[in-house]
Amino acid sequence: PVVPVILSGGSGSRLWPVSRSSYPKQFWPLVTKHTMVQETALRSHGPGFSAPIVVCNNEHRFIMAEQLKEVGITQARILLEPVGRNSAPAIAAAALLAAETDPDAVLWVMAADAAMQKPENIAPALAIAAQVARAGRIVTFGMTPTKAETGYGYIEKGAALDGYAGAFSVAKFVEKPDAENATRMFESGRFLWNSGMFVFTARTMLAEMEKFEPAIIAAVTQAVRERRSDIDFERLDEAAFDACPDISIDYAVAERTTLMTVIPGDFGWSDVGSWDALWELSPKDSAGNVSIGDVFMHNTSGSYVRSDGVLTAVTGVEDLLVVVNDDAVLVTHRQHAQDVKAIVSLLKKAG
Ligand code: GDD
Ligand code: MG
Repeated sequence: PVVPVILSGGSGSRLWPVSRSSYPKQFWPLVTKHTMVQETALRSHGPGFSAPIVVCNNEHRFIMAEQLKEVGITQARILLEPVGRNSAPAIAAAALLAAETDPDAVLWVMAADAAMQKPENIAPALAIAAQVARAGRIVTFGMTPTKAETGYGYIEKGAALDGYAGAFSVAKFVEKPDAENATRMFESGRFLWNSGMFVFTARTMLAEMEKFEPAIIAAVTQAVRERRSDIDFERLDEAAFDACPDISIDYAVAERTTLMTVIPGDFGWSDVGSWDALWELSPKDSAGNVSIGDVFMHNTSGSYVRSDGVLTAVTGVEDLLVVVNDDAVLVTHRQHAQDVKAIVSLLKKAG
C-alpha cells in the first residue's frame, strides 16, 4: 500500500480574513463542503492506502484531529512540529517515521491546500508513479501551465522513461523563477508546473536528503527519535527540530537530484492560494460573479463576494473581491489579490 503524507504547514495569509494563522485556509470549506485537509485525506483513503501521516504545527493539533475524525479517518498518525521549518524537514520526518516500519514504503506527499476538480484521473497516474518510485526514483505530477506564474516550480520534460508509460525524466526543475524566466518557460511550451505532490520510497528520499542537506537529516533524525507519543499525537522533539535548517523540498531536493521524474496529469489541479484563484475555480453566474453567504449583488460583474457575517450588498462595481467576516472586511481588486499577503503583514505590524 501507498502511505499518504499530508503536509499542512502553510498559514494562507492571502486568504485573509477567512484564513488566520490560528485557523489557516486548509481547515476551511472554501471549495467544497469539506475542508481542504478533509478533501486531501479523502483522496488518499481506502483500498491501496495505509493510514496517512499528517504533518502539522503543534498549534493545529486539535483542529486536525477533529477534522479527520469528522470524515471517518481515525487511524491517521499526526506528527506535530514545534515550529515550521518548511517542507523538506516535514517530509524528512514523515519518511523517517514510515521507514521505522518499512524503509521501502512508497510515500505520496500532498499539500493540504490544493483543489482537484478531476480526482478520478489521479489513481492511474499514481499507480505508475508507485512503480517508478519502487525503481528508486522521485516522481512529481506535472500540471499544464496556463500563465507565466512565478509562484510555482517549473519542470522541463525530458526523455520518456523506458518501461513506464506516461513517465518522463526531468531535464530541469526551476523553483519560483523570476517573471522573465517564467514567461520564457511558459512560452516555450516545454515546461509543466510542479503540483507539489511527490511519490518516492522513504529510502530514496532519505538518501537524497542526506546527500544534499545532511543537516536536515541529522536534526530530524534526532527529533523523530526523541519524539513523545500519546494516543493521538506524535510530537517531534523541540530542541532538535528547532535546530533544523528551513528549506523547501523544491530547493533542497527537486532542483538538485538526478532522480526526478515527471508524470503529466490532468487532475483539474488548482493551488488555492488567493481569493482570485477561488473566484477562478468557483461556479459563476452569467455576469461572472461568485456569491457565498448572505450577499446581494446588483450591476456587478466578475466579482467574488463572500460573507460569513452580516448582509453584504454590492452594486456598480466590477472585478472586485469582497470578503466579510465577523470581525474583518477585505475589499480589493481581482488584479491585486496577491497584495493581501502584504496588507496582512502590515496589519500585524500595526498591531
Ligand atoms: N508540515 C509542514 N510544515 N508543512 C509545510 C511547511 C512546514 O513547515 N511549510 C510548507 N508546508 C506545506 C504547505 O502547507 C503546503 O501544503 C505545501 O507544504 C507546500 O508549501 P507552500 O508554502 O504552499 O509552497 P508553495 O506553494 O510556495 O510552492 C510549492 O507548491 C507549488 C504548487 O502549489 C512548490 O512545491 C512549488 O514547486 C509548487 O509549484
Ligand atoms: Mg502553496
